[in-house]
Amino acid sequence: MTPAGSLLEADALHKAYGPTPALDGADFSVHAGEVVAVMGPSGSGKSTLLHCLAGIISPDSGTVRYGRHELTAMNDAERSALRRADFGFVFQFGQLVPELSCLENVALPLRLSGVRRKEAEERALEWLTRLEVDGVRGQRPGEVSGGQGQRVAVARALVGNPRVVFADEPTGALDSLNGERVMTLLTDAARETRAAVVLVTHETRVAAYSDREVTVRDGKARERLAAI
Ligand SMILES: Nc1ncnc2c1ncn2[C@@H]1O[C@H](COP(=O)(O)OP(=O)(O)OP(=O)(O)O)[C@@H](O)[C@H]1O
Ligand SMILES: [Mg+2]
Repeated sequence: MTPAGSLLEADALHKAYGPTPALDGADFSVHAGEVVAVMGPSGSGKSTLLHCLAGIISPDSGTVRYGRHELTAMNDAERSALRRADFGFVFQFGQLVPELSCLENVALPLRLSGVRRKEAEERALEWLTRLEVDGVRGQRPGEVSGGQGQRVAVARALVGNPRVVFADEPTGALDSLNGERVMTLLTDAARETRAAVVLVTHETRVAAYSDREVTVRDGKARERLAAI
């Protein structure tokens, strides 16, 4: 049983690509406002777990519940509507649209949800300012540094006021100073808005920003008390 009141909760997830299981009975839960670091060796199933939790892929068996929704019982269209409305994503590389300016990239999730351009761009600018990259609003992703690009990606993940932010190695391409800055901005913003954060990372330094650590090994997830 997962703790009562969790916002997102997975039970007994199994997922295999061919004969080897990527997930082999993984359980997971996160509360509103909680930052959980998912750690573990390469190939252990971290990204697969995150993708199942976010409804990007379907597990072979097991359930994912988000509030009163059961993601694993929804069809693709329902899951993508839910993702768009309630979830935000930050990945390691290349998730910004190269043809759009940084401002347009951050405004994009709002535009896709039907928010009018002016309002979407105003809200996007607020987030760029908050993440200290409003100076690059007119530039395209190819014209900004890796650290600036990642802050723009964090702004885009948060602009829609998501209830859950999924981040897969969000600082993997950054030097330590930029990585720390991005982590501080991401976790501060999430705690302030009571968003839950599921943060996949290899780095203990990054995991230090979490409230709790979960270790994935051989497709199973285990609780570990966060090092303080
Ligand atoms: N699309 C896929 N097709 C085939 N096998 C896959 C696929 N995605 C993942 N796998 C396999 O599933 C296992 C778990 O992969 P996953 O990407 O979840 O690991 P990870 O913990 O995120 O690793 P890393 O730290 O390197 O990102 C690995 O053995 C991987 O090779
Ligand atoms: Mg991965």
